[in-house]
Amino acid sequence: MQLAGTQSELSSGEWTSVFQQAGQLGMLHAHFTGGEPLARMDLTELVSAARTAGLYTNLITSGVGLNDQRLAALMGAGLDHIQISFQDSREEAANWIAGAKAHAHKIELSQAIRKYKVAFTVNLVVHRQNLDHLEEMIAFIETLNPDRVEIAHAQYYGWALANRAALMPTREQVEKGVAIVAEAEKRLAGRMRIDAVIPDYYAKYPKACMGGWGQRLMLINPSGKVLPCHAAEVLPQMSFENVRDRPLQWIWEESESFQRFRGESWMAEPCRSCDHRAEDFGGCRCQAFLLSGEAEATDPACSLAPKHSVIESALRESNAGTSVKQGTGGSSFVQLQQQSAALWTYRTNPE
Ligand code: SF4
Ligand code: FES
Repeated sequence: MQLAGTQSELSSGEWTSVFQQAGQLGMLHAHFTGGEPLARMDLTELVSAARTAGLYTNLITSGVGLNDQRLAALMGAGLDHIQISFQDSREEAANWIAGAKAHAHKIELSQAIRKYKVAFTVNLVVHRQNLDHLEEMIAFIETLNPDRVEIAHAQYYGWALANRAALMPTREQVEKGVAIVAEAEKRLAGRMRIDAVIPDYYAKYPKACMGGWGQRLMLINPSGKVLPCHAAEVLPQMSFENVRDRPLQWIWEESESFQRFRGESWMAEPCRSCDHRAEDFGGCRCQAFLLSGEAEATDPACSLAPKHSVIESALRESNAGTSVKQGTGGSSFVQLQQQSAALWTYRTNPE
């Protein structure tokens, strides 16, 4: 995916107008996410503008670039919720996968956050290489004392799709992970809430991606383009409006892109007559396109999908253990990465 140049980014004033329009439209939340929202030097001003527009503000960050002073300013601006992502409980592995020596800083930052009255969530992305020490990762997160932890399996879009063989867990890993999470939920009830998302490759039916296309969410990228989901630009023959050219309300109500997969009229069989269509909306449009070549197809993650065989074959490969080694409780993740370096696909650094 092409990253937008900073010169095309919306100004503070343009973002303020977007937040005002969102508030008037009845939207409830503004999630500041990335890339890395801290790269915006005016982030405090933006949080304050969103707050003034009546939106609940949530910062989703790696924590890189957040020092005590900036944190205090964000809290002063009325930030309601902060989410920090951790890649692992083990420093070496966490830094390796993040591509930055950020783990120790994130721990310090978590301690600083707890001094404020702000809701705090830790995000943990799990995959083939770290699931075997999930218990250890949960114990580590407990020491950070968040209100909530989100344990999410890698989702296979973009670079994760290119690296799917290295990231896809085995069925045994997934089943053990579910049991560990259930035990932790029981033990931590009333102290820390756990939200865990099972990988849809292993589910019977697909996820209700975005809560339905054009039903709950507008994603506005740094240059003002408005998307119904984070991956929508992979879809062919679609164009997306920009807040510089159209009011947010028009984009939500009238634009072709938001109407394209809204509701059920676009659905083909088996979704069109399926009892689950109001629950999962036929699954994810972007995944359907990436795995089947057709944006209108039933998401192949669905066990009823005509193209479900592509999921079955990815799982066969993953469970046969022929695709890539997995980390074990005792093995060094970094050692494993170095041995298997040829298996990873990297993004080239932008010039
Ligand atoms: Fe959902 Fe379509 Fe599968 Fe039915 S056939 S469960 S609507 S994806
Ligand atoms: Fe685009 Fe699911 S990510 S619809």
